[in-house]
Amino acid sequence: MKKKIALLPGDGIGPEVVTSAVAVLKETAAQFRHEFEFETALIGGIAIDEKNNPLPKETVDVCKSADAILLGAVGGPKWDQNPPELRPEKGLLAIRKQLDLFANIRPVKVFDSLSEASPLKQDHINGVDFVIVRELTGGLYFGEPSERYTDEEGKEAAVDTLLYTKEEIVRVLKEAFDMALTRRKKVTSVDKANVLASSKLWRDAVEEVASQYPDVEFEHMLVDNAAMQLIYKPAQFDVIVTENMFGDILSDEASMITGSLGMLPSASLSSTGLHLYEPIHGSAPDIAGQNVANPLATILSAASLLRTSFALEEEAAAIEEAVETVLASGKRTKDLSAKEGTYQTTEDITHAVVDALKQNVKTIV
Ligand code: IPM
Ligand code: MN
Repeated sequence: MKKKIALLPGDGIGPEVVTSAVAVLKETAAQFRHEFEFETALIGGIAIDEKNNPLPKETVDVCKSADAILLGAVGGPKWDQNPPELRPEKGLLAIRKQLDLFANIRPVKVFDSLSEASPLKQDHINGVDFVIVRELTGGLYFGEPSERYTDEEGKEAAVDTLLYTKEEIVRVLKEAFDMALTRRKKVTSVDKANVLASSKLWRDAVEEVASQYPDVEFEHMLVDNAAMQLIYKPAQFDVIVTENMFGDILSDEASMITGSLGMLPSASLSSTGLHLYEPIHGSAPDIAGQNVANPLATILSAASLLRTSFALEEEAAAIEEAVETVLASGKRTKDLSAKEGTYQTTEDITHAVVDALKQNVKTIV
């Protein structure tokens, strides 16, 4: 299979973890006789530095000429004082919008060999295996107006807008219900319908969509309760679907159930078939350039890319198995290592995954 992958390394540890994932993709291509072509483009702070634009047009063109996109992370203190239009995060929001990446899939699964990393008691995390489907191109992140202003009485004020059309809600719900059909067939829709008008519309849409999926059990849950239930009984969830900002907050919370933000991949699915994959962690500027970042979330995002965008199930599974092998062997990057000074570097872990992939594939074929 011949495919083109656009790489958007971004800022902080982004370039390091993307380099790791590319090494793993190259090894996968060699083992399974595929041809992956890579083209790198600028996004975020580095794009502001070089092009004075967090998402230059060339970057969008590179993405559109590719079959899938792999992103590292954006942002850092260097650009914190920039005006809103020149912040790295704007680049990420703009690419989501321009490529219509409306459904962000964030799986939360505890790796057996990492179960001790969870801050929750073992009996709470047994059987945890769920997916958060976060709406990604609407809601509070994109509603207008969104600005600071001075009101008639001269008081400083600011406004953001939580706006959804029913159509936007329905399409992300369908992704969630479709996903539930391939899993344990349960959808939890999270909202704040006791307060917000947009959540009431969201609930109506859930009732409508659910009626088309008689085999899927569904429930509504208020977002504050959902935040509590995620810690109290995380194993109850199968597919959680929710508004953009609720999804942002709940997915960071959920990631800690696994004890390892550095392990979790994500996929942003579009209406056009051109999807974007990225780790859920950020750019971690405090550890950038030190060869200590955990590359596994990006490597697992690359596996998700192969499975979802190219239907390469066997290849994706081989990467995931290689990651499991490395973890089972006790190798850990700094974020996961309990003891000071006993961790592997980003490059060590990457080589270990590449080696495990070689070994595992040899035993398959
Ligand atoms: C994420 C990030 C982004 C978001 C930021 C960097 C804009 O936190 O992908 O979850 O809030 O969506
Ligand atoms: Mn976030």
